[in-house]
Amino acid sequence: MAILSPSVLSADYMNMGRDMLQTGVDGAKWLHIDCMDGAFVPNLSFGYSMVKAIRGVSDLVLDVHMMIDRPIRYVENFCDAGADLLTIHVEADTEENTLKAIEMIRAKGVKPGIVVKPKTPAEAVLPYLDKVDMVLVMTVEPGFGGQKFMADMMPKLKKIREYIDRINPDCYLEVDGGVDINTAEVCKANGANVLVAGSAFYGAADRAAFVKSVEA
Ligand code: DX5
Ligand code: ZN
Repeated sequence: MAILSPSVLSADYMNMGRDMLQTGVDGAKWLHIDCMDGAFVPNLSFGYSMVKAIRGVSDLVLDVHMMIDRPIRYVENFCDAGADLLTIHVEADTEENTLKAIEMIRAKGVKPGIVVKPKTPAEAVLPYLDKVDMVLVMTVEPGFGGQKFMADMMPKLKKIREYIDRINPDCYLEVDGGVDINTAEVCKANGANVLVAGSAFYGAADRAAFVKSVEA
């Protein structure tokens, strides 16, 4: 049983409230919110005010993906805005600060997670694995929706699944980038249990059927 986390990055920005409510009606239980700073990634998207606005209209689990340099500067703002899970990139700061940021998130009663970019090896999660509730494996270079799924990330995903089973079996393993009905199956077969989908979900003719298929 997997969980779909639809990425708000591909929603209709002129009708955000409507889309967020409809996403729940379509059967999704989570929402993935991509927050980009224009420095860690070459794009800008949402800040914590958007997380707060979505929290105001939605009871879905808010899965917030920070693509932000030195996230320790902002993790408390994102927690206060209403994130349920807050993921930070291991590449975005020193190990010491990343560990400190994880503690700060936990102290706020929010579930911390870490993210690895495509070129970052599986072993990079090890210093954090017993302290987080989710590991997110990027299957595209972070920054933009609608990119092609990198199937060559599957051996890494499988390796991280083995680490999780050994060290922290309750930890979620999430995949983000290029996930559609077909690539979702590949990710699940390699150990993922949370699937982010932006363009494929918001572009689907029947979103309720998309949720059912991915979560089956
Ligand atoms: C990319 C973001 C993704 C993006 C996925 O940097 O982290 O969450 O929204 O979009 P799709 O599913 O279209 O690849
Ligand atoms: Zn994301």
